[in-house]
Amino acid sequence: MPPEPLHQVHPLLEGLGVERTAAPAAIVIFGASGDLTRRKLMPALQALMARDRLAPGTSIVGVGRSDLGDEGFRSRMRQAVEQAGGGDVDERAWGQLEGGLRYVSGGYDDAGTYKALDEVVGDLDRDRGTAGNRLHYLSTPPGVFATVVDHLGRVGLHRPAAGGDFARVVIEKPFGHDLDSAEALDRCLHEVLDEDQLYRIDHYLGKETVQNVLALRFANSIFEPVWNRSYVDSVQITVAESEGVGHRAGFYEDAGALRDIVQNHLLQVLALTAMEPPVSMSPKGIRDEKVKALGAVDLLSPAEVATEVVRGQYRRGWVSGAEVPGYDEEEGVAPDSRTETYVAMRLRIDNWRWAGVPFYLRTGKCLPRRVTEVALQFSGVPHLPFAPTQATQLGPNALVLRIQPDEGITLRFGAKIPGQSFDVRSVSMDFSYGAAFAEEAPEAYERLLHDALLGDPTLFIRTDEVQQAWRIVQPLLDAWSSESQPPAGYEAGTWGPEEADRLLEAGGHRWRRP
Ligand code: BG6
Repeated sequence: MPPEPLHQVHPLLEGLGVERTAAPAAIVIFGASGDLTRRKLMPALQALMARDRLAPGTSIVGVGRSDLGDEGFRSRMRQAVEQAGGGDVDERAWGQLEGGLRYVSGGYDDAGTYKALDEVVGDLDRDRGTAGNRLHYLSTPPGVFATVVDHLGRVGLHRPAAGGDFARVVIEKPFGHDLDSAEALDRCLHEVLDEDQLYRIDHYLGKETVQNVLALRFANSIFEPVWNRSYVDSVQITVAESEGVGHRAGFYEDAGALRDIVQNHLLQVLALTAMEPPVSMSPKGIRDEKVKALGAVDLLSPAEVATEVVRGQYRRGWVSGAEVPGYDEEEGVAPDSRTETYVAMRLRIDNWRWAGVPFYLRTGKCLPRRVTEVALQFSGVPHLPFAPTQATQLGPNALVLRIQPDEGITLRFGAKIPGQSFDVRSVSMDFSYGAAFAEEAPEAYERLLHDALLGDPTLFIRTDEVQQAWRIVQPLLDAWSSESQPPAGYEAGTWGPEEADRLLEAGGHRWRRP
């Protein structure tokens, strides 16, 4: 007998963020022997099952080129769950998942793989009550996305089986390599799938603190009135990483920081920061506004790429007390590689709210700290009634949204230094997630996998968002492809090349040192 779903929710309660159990489904992971499945997907599914967010019959089919077999796959997934829990495993949840773990080995371009897969999910529908529902997760190299989807279409796995409600496909970035290839990829995907079946993951959107940008802006009356060109002087968005490229050179050499972080994570955070208030928190309400914000970003001309953008590459240096090799010394990196590991840029958003406010974006590997934040710097007061000597320690007002780590929000403002004189200096008011909430934030993948199973696409990237993001990035790709200068070098463990400091100094600003 197929197990009963745990509990039903009144249809009116369905929508963004409603905690409920997803309908049973066969979750098919392509690229199941890869790193992502072990580090993120399987631990997320186990955590969802432990919180009763997955129906008991939910089953996971791994597809990969390695010849693991069901038992090999199970023991790998068990290890993944143990590692994620630091040795602790919720045995009840594992017990429910374990029986539904299957493995299909084969090439992604081999029709036999999909025939075998079709049989396995058919068995699961019968034996475990997966009810004809499918969630395909493409955790493969991007070059095979179109092939996999084409084959799914041929065997009919792109549709729910009889009695099922859904068949969805989750795709990991990168969505294309540039604007043309992204559009070509979408055309291939749309030959088989409707847009509403496609769930393009940007794991930054699954982060609680990224979602909190929306809560901060649209659940409060005190911030929104100053969230515009009348009060905001400039905006800085930083995605800094202390790690180098590690063992991912094969991927990174072709990607670089622009494709790896700017095109997706950074521009998504920018969109949430800059967008207009949505009419509702519906998927369409939010995604329409994000597209409009990205669409208002002014494209850089080839000449502006030279003046408004800095790209860098790390050289040998020290990060957190350890010596790290230069990027060009990393295994798998060409000694004369021009791949950028750092990008900083100034963008303009040409709309009523943001005209004239520079948006400074930066990301880099081998920087001193891993930190992601959005900082709004406010304009100065119209008249400062203090002697200049009394305000030497007074900086601009700033609101800093600390996305990670140390998640929270900081407000910087001026206060009187206690004492006889009237000296003022900047102080901070801090909100910290850890101190304010007892609840633990779910991991980004946990949140996103659950949403994909529930059919809530709010935190996934729609096709027009992908295109808008490539539109912004494409002029940089074009300019760099014919650029004779290599990226500027910066010592690992520093905040990037000096050229990036000069970029801000030109506008009378300075990078924050988070
Ligand atoms: C990934 C990039 O998308 O995001 C990696 O491919 C990067 O290069 C990672 O390290 C950063 O994610 P997080 O969640 O650690 O900030």
